[in-house]
Amino acid sequence: MRRCLLFAAALLTASLPAISQQLAQTPPMGWNSWNWFAGKVTDADIRKAADLMVSSGMRDAGYVYVNIDDTWQGKRDANGVIHANEKFPDMKALADYVHSKGLKIGIYSSPGPQTCARYEGSLGHEEQDAKTYAEWGIDYLKYDLCSFGKNMKDAYPNDYEAQNKMMRDAYEKMHQAILKAGRPMVYSLCQYGFDQSWQWAPKVGGNLWRTTDDIRANYDSMILIGLSQAGLAKFAGPGHWNDPDMLEVGNGKMTHDENIAHMTMWSMLAAPLMAGNNFTEMSDDVRSILTNKEAIAIDQDKLGKQGDRVWAGEETEIWARPLADGSVAYAIFNVANNRSTMRGLRPHLKEAGFPSGTAHARDLWAHKDLGTIKDTDVFTIPRHGAVLLKLTK
Ligand code: GLA
Repeated sequence: MRRCLLFAAALLTASLPAISQQLAQTPPMGWNSWNWFAGKVTDADIRKAADLMVSSGMRDAGYVYVNIDDTWQGKRDANGVIHANEKFPDMKALADYVHSKGLKIGIYSSPGPQTCARYEGSLGHEEQDAKTYAEWGIDYLKYDLCSFGKNMKDAYPNDYEAQNKMMRDAYEKMHQAILKAGRPMVYSLCQYGFDQSWQWAPKVGGNLWRTTDDIRANYDSMILIGLSQAGLAKFAGPGHWNDPDMLEVGNGKMTHDENIAHMTMWSMLAAPLMAGNNFTEMSDDVRSILTNKEAIAIDQDKLGKQGDRVWAGEETEIWARPLADGSVAYAIFNVANNRSTMRGLRPHLKEAGFPSGTAHARDLWAHKDLGTIKDTDVFTIPRHGAVLLKLTK
């Protein structure tokens, strides 16, 4: 059985395109403009984000990519070359600036005629656009299905398989264009999980692929997405990651405990960590959650094995993730909605691969060794909060 699995894993690795194998050996980390700035983002916002990424300690904690999302696009010239709009007067200079901070820069487009915010997409200009991005010095491309959905429906009304093939081909087309442009770019597929993206995205060069619809800056959206990732672990690994969408830590009305649960869940999922908050008004609390090196070390663990649910009760979710050093990341979530009180939750170690019902534990939010914990112990976790442990036998 084990041999069979190894063989299957070797086959999968062998069939992955070269680009997937080299880039994003751990889940990409950075910041993206959309969740806070949306359509208002400008060159000045991106420069400021890069400055603050450094001065806040985010860069040193591992956040590298500064990604411009939708609404940078202007018009194409007579030769079809895309130019940025007036919000971004000089993309090459902006990329140079971001690089000068020891950071990398990302950009956004769509396989359709228009992006989701109705700016110019890449349809029919894939090679040209990839070349332009390479000339500007772009290191990361988020490619968002958007209006291409209509092209698919128009081409094959009611034939979903043909529509899906058209979508997969469109993503492969841009993958080839990036390879041809000759500059390494992390390739981020954004198509909301259609056609079980995890099944095919790695084969068209995806370093990451969205598994769900857009996240919103509230607990319900975040936890619904997080919990819906159960069962997807086997599709992720070094170079190719499930993407449950960008972080909302620091956005909306998410509380301290909810932000902890968000960062805990994304770390357990080996999710790309793309902060989405406004650094110019980042509180110390939000900064310390985003830069918790012990949580980030779980997310970035070299083994690259995504975590999964190991136990669930009415108000408890327990997820585990094997780590390169033989230990296990272990997260206990209090998902109770209807109570404002703290809950005492048991760790259920026996059900989760610790037959003795005991383990040595370190608490990665309290930054404290807990010694030996037992199944009869009770963890007091606030509503919507989480505990993140590192367990050794
Ligand atoms: C889609 C994506 C978002 C964002 C917007 C931009 O909704 O899922 O992440 O990129 O488009 O228009």
